[in-house]
Amino acid sequence: MTWTVSKLLQWSQLYLAEKGIEESRLQVEYLLAHVLAKKRLSLYLESDRVLNETELAAFKTLLQRRSQKEPLQYILGTHLFMDLNLKVGPGVFIPRFETEVLVENVLEAFQKREMKTARILELGIGTGAISLAIAKKYPDMAIVGVDVSAEALKYAKENIGLHACSQIELRQGDLFSSIEPHEKFDVIISNPPYLAEPLWASLKDEVKLHEPKEALFSGEEGLDCILKIIETSRYYLKPEGMLFVEFSPEQRDQIEAVFKKDTFFTMWKFVRDYEHRDRLFIAERGKT
Ligand SMILES: C[S@@+](CC[C@H](N)C(=O)[O-])C[C@H]1O[C@@H](n2cnc3c(N)ncnc32)[C@H](O)[C@@H]1O
Repeated sequence: MTWTVSKLLQWSQLYLAEKGIEESRLQVEYLLAHVLAKKRLSLYLESDRVLNETELAAFKTLLQRRSQKEPLQYILGTHLFMDLNLKVGPGVFIPRFETEVLVENVLEAFQKREMKTARILELGIGTGAISLAIAKKYPDMAIVGVDVSAEALKYAKENIGLHACSQIELRQGDLFSSIEPHEKFDVIISNPPYLAEPLWASLKDEVKLHEPKEALFSGEEGLDCILKIIETSRYYLKPEGMLFVEFSPEQRDQIEAVFKKDTFFTMWKFVRDYEHRDRLFIAERGKT
């Protein structure tokens, strides 16, 4: 049988749809464009092109992976976060759109304080998305990026190399464990794992079956990492230092209760994401 671009797209769209894959047309277009090393829309200019055996075999492998609910980003090997092309793949968390809110608030704070240099600590750096977005805008900031996962750090290292951001230093460890007691930071940032473990069953297969669990879950209520970060960051923040942490909207009340009792942070506030859900908290240490 002869497979043209249009025939193959049509057939595989139905195949993926039957497997329960959303936006199946778009998905197969991305896969085929990847195999042919073309832009997705240029497939329409070549709809009658006949695919050879090698191209068909390569496409079939990718289609099979996607039919097993592997995220498209893992298959293509890249993901766009705030204009940054990042390498992603099995073993590393795929940066989410809502995390742009965290980056934007950090950049805004730097602008407001007219900070050009600072020491930043990112806990749970993953692909490096947040730190790279900051480093690209502020090349004189020194960043330490920590992750517990060796696999995640491989991607972070690769992305740092690709974007030539050597001011980001990587360390492997559990939250603050790789930070020396004398090390102090102007800013501590984290998009930690914050899902409640009982939520596992309700997640999409793409997330549940393929993304690393340690990047997603943090105890029964999803708060374990967040509470440790609030508790421990005080030992590592310089006077007037700032803490930026992403969280899940339903955790707001519990986090607020912690800040109400805690006198260390002299200012704290919540910020909403693009869907008007509480998504980020910013806390500041006083002058002393
Ligand atoms: C939600 S992902 C965020 C990754 C990246 N910062 C981003 O926003 O795309 C959380 C990251 O924290 C890491 N992580 C989980 N528990 C950790 C811990 N106890 N200490 C350090 N990193 C941890 C995971 O491996 C994962 O890379």
